[in-house]
This record gives sequence, C-alpha cells and structure tokens, in this order.
Amino acid sequence: MARIGILTGGGDCPGLNAVIRAVVRRAVRAHGHEVLGFRNGWAGVLKGDTMPLTLQSTSGILHRGGTLLGTSRTNPYAEPDGGERIRDTLAELGVDALVPVGGEDTLGVARRLSQEGVDVVGVPKTIDNDLGETDFTFGFHTAVQIATDAIDRLHTTAESHNRVIVVEVMGRHAGWIAAYSGMAGGADAILVPERPFDVDEVCDRIRRRHATGRSFSIIVVAEGATPADGALAAVDAPVDAFGHARLGGVALALEREIERRTGYETRMTILGHVQRGGTPTAYDRVLATRFGVAAVDAVEAGRFGEMVALRATDIVTVPLGDALAAPKLLDPALYETAEVFFG
Ligand code: F6P
Repeated sequence: MARIGILTGGGDCPGLNAVIRAVVRRAVRAHGHEVLGFRNGWAGVLKGDTMPLTLQSTSGILHRGGTLLGTSRTNPYAEPDGGERIRDTLAELGVDALVPVGGEDTLGVARRLSQEGVDVVGVPKTIDNDLGETDFTFGFHTAVQIATDAIDRLHTTAESHNRVIVVEVMGRHAGWIAAYSGMAGGADAILVPERPFDVDEVCDRIRRRHATGRSFSIIVVAEGATPADGALAAVDAPVDAFGHARLGGVALALEREIERRTGYETRMTILGHVQRGGTPTAYDRVLATRFGVAAVDAVEAGRFGEMVALRATDIVTVPLGDALAAPKLLDPALYETAEVFFG
C-alpha cells in the first residue's frame, strides 16, 4: 500500500472534483492505496495542511464545480527554503507520490520538485487550454460553452439595439477560448494574444459589415490580446507569485475606441470568472475522470516526472519538461477558418 498526495493549484476550473474523485477511486479500489489531499495548492503542502480523501468523502462530487481541496497561486520557490519544506512535509506525512493538478505554474513547481527527487505525476488543468503536449485540458470545454451561451444572449440584445458588443473572454497567452467561442457564437471578429490587432482594421471591418445592411456586430476579445501599435495601453495590474499580471479590461478600451472611431453605439461585457464557475460539461467530466485514473496508473507504473495528456482520443503520459517547454498557442489554421466568417 502506498500513500498518494493530491493538490489542486492555480486558477480553479470545472472538472477538478472529477479528477479528485477519479484518483481516489482508482487508488483505493484498484491498488488499495491511501489518498491524502493537500488544501489550497502548494500552500497546503508547505504547511502540511491536509484532509484525508476517502471513497465516502469524494462521493457525489463529480458534477460539482470548484475544488473541494481549495486552491491558491502560492509559489513555494518564491521562498528560499520552499522546496526543502515541501520535501520535509512529504517525508513527515509518509507521502510516496504526489499528484499535482494544475496549469503551467503548478506543474512548473512539480517539475522542479521532480528534479529534486520527489515522485510526481502531473494532471493538466486550465480553462485556457494552453498547456503543451496535450490536445485539451479539462475546464476548457466548459468555459467555451459558457462563453458561447453568453455570446448567443449578447447577439439578441446587440441586434435589438443596433449596437457593437465587445465580449472579453479569458486567455492570458493563448486565444483558444476566444477562437472556439467566437466561432461557435458567430463573432464578426476574434482578437487573440497570438495576433496583435489593429483597431483601425477592426473598425473598418465593422463599417463594411454595417454598410451591407447589418446593424450590429459582435467582437470577441481574449483578455491577453493587445493592439499592434500599443495604442490601448493596459492599466497597471497587480502581479501574482508567478509574475503574471492580473488581466482584464481590454474590452473597455475597445468599447471606447470603436464607438469614438466609428460612431456606432458600443457596449462591452467581461465574462471573467463566470467562465471558471459552475458544473463541468459532460466532456470535461469524462476527460478529468480519464486523467485521474491515468495519473494513478502512472504512479503505479513509476512514470514519475511525467504528466497525463490527451493525444487524439488516447490518454498518454509525457515528460513534464516537454509539456512546459512553451505555451500551446492557437493553431493558425483554426484562426484562418474562423476568419472566413468575420465581418
Ligand atoms: O487559470 C487561467 C486563468 O483563468 C486565466 O485565463 C486568467 O488570466 C487567470 O486565470 C485569472 O486568474 P485569477 O483568478 O487568479 O485572477
């Protein structure tokens, strides 16, 4: 019997509870292992703040959003003895292997710990879908569905009022949510971090569309999208423990500029954390469940320093170093297909 530790770190996302449930089921039922949950991401590992996870305590959570373990953006390596404290906690608690569930930051810490001799198997999570070496991360599909539902609703009000509506979705480095929800919602332009945008070009597109008899437009913008000429300077934003600025607000600047330059009445909506809340879609529940089961199997097989991943329809494991080498940016071919429907 082994003792497996699990933590959820970084921004929460729908499907985290499904992973926790799957890890516990597989570990207990297939291998007779014990699972210990760490509260609030790496903060819980630093402090030894734990909760036992059993078949009973993880029953009935599959469909619940958020994470019963809690999460944080704590970076243990921001402290000089962080790595050592984590290794000490794991040794004191008799944790044989750790399963961190997170995005680039959480898994970056996992990789470093693995290089320092800790047995870890990562599970990729982020609504942004920007982790390398996996076709999808769970949470993304739910975020896209929420954003698409919102765009559908904004369509009807934009049409009634003859307005331009700018919808801001999440996506720090990559425009996956913007591209998918924009395509699904029939956006007239999609602005993503990978392609700095030209406000004049966006305005021309809207003018051309309105000249052909359409009296409203929907622009979807990822929070990390920036203007090519830097003309829409971002507001000063606080930075988290991993050095990431808190984003949000590009839609407000666009609202003002589009209305000023075109004369069309314009409104913006920032979807924000709504995209991360609530129940996961069926797709995300299944992906998260498959990841959780595969993570335990990877522990069992001694595949440490690796991360479970989706390749086409298969679950595989890949080295954490490969997954973290660079963010997975939007596929240019997907964007070109989306462009066919612009304006
Ligand atoms: O986890 C990814 C993400 O949702 C990004 O899309 C967004 O920029 C960030 O988290 C927001 O983080 P927080 O909830 O800490 O403000």
